[in-house]
Amino acid sequence: MDFETKNGHLMWDGCDTVALAQEFGTPLYVMSQTKIENKLNELQTNFVDKYEKVRVAYASKAFSTLAMLKIIEKQGFSLEVLSDGELYTAIKADFPPELIEMNGNNKSLAEIEMAIDYGVGRIIVDSLQEVAIIRSIAAKKNKVINILFRITPEVSVATHSFISTGQKDSKFGIPIDPAILFPQVEQAIQAPEVNFLGFHFHVGSQLFENNAHLAAVTIALDLVRLVKEKFDYIIEELNFGGGFGVTYMDSDQPQPFNYFTDPMMERLLDFCQKEHYPQPAVVIEPGRSIVAEAGITLHTIGAIKELPGIRKYASIDGGMTDNIRPGLYQAEYTGVLANKADEPAIETVTISGKACESTDILIKDIELPKIEAGDIFATFSTGAYGYSMASNYNKLAIPAVVLVKNGKADLIVRRQNFDQMLANEIIPASLK
Ligand code: LLP
Repeated sequence: MDFETKNGHLMWDGCDTVALAQEFGTPLYVMSQTKIENKLNELQTNFVDKYEKVRVAYASKAFSTLAMLKIIEKQGFSLEVLSDGELYTAIKADFPPELIEMNGNNKSLAEIEMAIDYGVGRIIVDSLQEVAIIRSIAAKKNKVINILFRITPEVSVATHSFISTGQKDSKFGIPIDPAILFPQVEQAIQAPEVNFLGFHFHVGSQLFENNAHLAAVTIALDLVRLVKEKFDYIIEELNFGGGFGVTYMDSDQPQPFNYFTDPMMERLLDFCQKEHYPQPAVVIEPGRSIVAEAGITLHTIGAIKELPGIRKYASIDGGMTDNIRPGLYQAEYTGVLANKADEPAIETVTISGKACESTDILIKDIELPKIEAGDIFATFSTGAYGYSMASNYNKLAIPAVVLVKNGKADLIVRRQNFDQMLANEIIPASLK
């Protein structure tokens, strides 16, 4: 992992991480604005500026905070949300509603109504019941709603099965079986309350190969052709999802965005040329690849336990409550002692969390300098699905988040306090 040091300390976007730990306390998520912006600029140059009618919708589930959504808005990108809470966050960040697209495999009536009231740009339909619900709400409010159908492209991907979504046996998406999909399409074409734009797919997450994306594009284009043949209807928009992989371990070899987007666009443009088809707009929905590598988490080392001939454990003041990914997906991470970042590794240590759970192991067997209580451990690549999946298990507080840029640090999420944790709890009169 490449990192900078100064006076033996790990630096992150010009900030001394040991000083950050002192100032803001630990556990602490630290997000580099420069690294986020570099990813956005890469997408801008190699995708948005390169092709006509293309957009990037940041998948906010990866890391959704008001400040983060402001960064996305300033770039002029769109936003993908999946729930009323993510939508509410976007609205509170003054995100332009017409640039928001709403996903979700089980949107409630209230969520659909909220999306329509706020005027989101698109609702991505993910169930057979949804068009009828959208139609009835839209009719009442006298609105016409842009929709796409999320399809299950039936492709398999090389990633952890827990984060693969495009296979046939999936809770996500509408089956591409014409007997199931086409009655939906026909309804969407005919219904005055909806404007049917096209198809959406998302094949899975943390992918290093583009073959699943390309296979799914081919399947989507087959549908585009069939919809033209069957209904004489032109598809205006396709959404190719996200899923582009990032570096967690030195052995990971992620590809630049255009390794995915160029061949997908080539396949689409080829199709349009051969079929004399007007080019549909294209949206991609990267989440992890924009924020993961920009983030680190700082923890303070506490208890150290050596089991001779077995293992040395060093415990941190957080763990699965601020990063569930090792426990949930056997995800691997690496890190450094932020206060000893220039010292050579001399021992093998297992970094364990403090939650009452055996799977709360952040990193098994990492080589580190001599580890002592009070050291600051920095885990790399925690910017995606860390804060956003944090929990209050064991009533541990959700950590603070600091946004750093060129040596300047801004607190963007305060550390949760105990009163906030208990704010919604009530003792009924019978128990008082
Ligand atoms: N679009 C849709 C419709 C999605 O379902 C997802 C992720 C994304 C975009 C963004 O995917 P990304 O570019 O971040 O890979 N919690 C898991 C990841 C779950 C992703 C689910 N859907 C993890 O920590 O690995």
